[in-house]
Amino acid sequence: MTGKLPKDRILILDFGSQYTQLVARRIRELGVYCELWRWDVIETHILKFNPSGIILSGGPESTTRKDSPRAPDCVFQAGVPVLGICYGMQTMAIQLGGEVQVSTKREFGYAKVEVLQNSSLLLHDIQDEYSSDGMPVLDVWMSHGDNITSIPLGFINIAKTESCPFTVIENEEKRFYGVQFHPEVTHTRQGQRILERFVFHICECVSIWTPTNIIKNAMDSIQETIKNDHVILGLSGGVDSLVSAVLLQRAIGSRLICVFVDNGLLRLNEGRQIMDMFKSFFKLNIVYVLAEDQFLSALSGIKDPEKKRKTIGRVFVDVFNKQVLKFSNVKWLAQGTIYTDIIESAKTGIGASHVIKSYHNVGGLPKKMKLGLVEPLKSLFKDEVYKIGLALGLPYEILNRHPFPGSGLGVRILGEVKKEYCELLRYADAIFIEELHKANLYNKLSQAFAVFLPVRTVGIMGDTRKYEWVISLRAIQTIDFMTAHWACLPDKFLRQVSTRIINEINGVSRVVYDISNKPPATIEWE
Ligand code: XMP
Repeated sequence: MTGKLPKDRILILDFGSQYTQLVARRIRELGVYCELWRWDVIETHILKFNPSGIILSGGPESTTRKDSPRAPDCVFQAGVPVLGICYGMQTMAIQLGGEVQVSTKREFGYAKVEVLQNSSLLLHDIQDEYSSDGMPVLDVWMSHGDNITSIPLGFINIAKTESCPFTVIENEEKRFYGVQFHPEVTHTRQGQRILERFVFHICECVSIWTPTNIIKNAMDSIQETIKNDHVILGLSGGVDSLVSAVLLQRAIGSRLICVFVDNGLLRLNEGRQIMDMFKSFFKLNIVYVLAEDQFLSALSGIKDPEKKRKTIGRVFVDVFNKQVLKFSNVKWLAQGTIYTDIIESAKTGIGASHVIKSYHNVGGLPKKMKLGLVEPLKSLFKDEVYKIGLALGLPYEILNRHPFPGSGLGVRILGEVKKEYCELLRYADAIFIEELHKANLYNKLSQAFAVFLPVRTVGIMGDTRKYEWVISLRAIQTIDFMTAHWACLPDKFLRQVSTRIINEINGVSRVVYDISNKPPATIEWE
């Protein structure tokens, strides 16, 4: 999947647990490269990947079902350490001759694990507290309905809980380990230390997956692939495309051509900021295309949110394609696809490397252009993209900007998009964001923005009656953007923002604050 892989690497076989991605992120946090593949990947791929260790993830199925997933046999014959987590531990037990039965009691949430064998390499000197008889005790997170009832030959039992007799098992000679709990979730307080023990002490990996090495690895791989060709990249202003651009430029210099399409739906001064930063600071070969009129006239009269999104996407493809056609020497199209996109869009393990992000809007490139796809971030998680962005010299403020939808203000102006509304909203949004920075609140929020409501309400300013538009403020906190809480911003702060918006923006007579969680409300209003 990647150019040159580090020698030390872990393979994670995914049995479908909601936490599998977390396992991968934890291993990467340790500075060790890992990849996540579906459990049924063919054996030759595993052998070719040549992992230093294999982790079998948890999964939603019951191993007691006859047709439930099993790890490929080569996992246990490759001569490398194996760590089975939850379902992964149970399938390992069954495949090696043990037994699993449906338990009468489902164990979900916190559990206390009593360690029975102090000598286990996996758990040695790792504990939260000690029991009255001096044995280590761990606070862990469990989620299982089945239990191992008999362990395979060669294994010993290392730990138990009240309702789970075999909570940690090991075969020291073969370096096979199983844990019924989830070490990858932070509720398991010593979880990261346990993973660290497995990766460093048992698999003997070295921590070399660092930003400097990641950058070097990516640059080598880009140079090897691109050779002397030219590459084109649609710069959206989002972190992934910005980091891809800087990385590619480091690797191939001015043979990277960036196209920045200003659709008129950007935040205040955003186009200028991006051009300044990339042209002057990073010396990028960048083409600025002002296409505001084209986007706004295509959006004229359209009220439906999905139609607006599609129109914005279509116009982007038209504008971008015209630019591509101008460069006859371009052989490659660069995209800021990241590892999460690949895992989530495909869930097909290896071979799933050609995923086009829908909001990149480049899916409509004419086939006759025959461009190859280059995705320099495709093996990186979002936090790794941030880290290498910083290492490449991208300013902290740019990297830590809240996400902004590809469809921009187009989905923050309810109903029809008009230039006049864009102007009002841009100013209101800029005031809100400026005040958040001043009050030191911006970095405490996951996303904050203003929304334009095309309804007129009455207000009085001095002796004059106003009958003008409404601005809603939205500020949320979230970990994954799948669910979100509205942020409880201080009264004084909200008063200041509202006063500034109404006083400074001609055309707004009322400001409201959105107090809806996701679900049921989405983060964007459209
Ligand atoms: P929702 O509104 O679905 O948003 O709760 C979740 C996250 O996705 C962003 N978002 C978009 N990003 N194009 C994008 O690139 C879009 O059309 C789009 N719609 C929503 C949203 O800003 C939030 O971070």
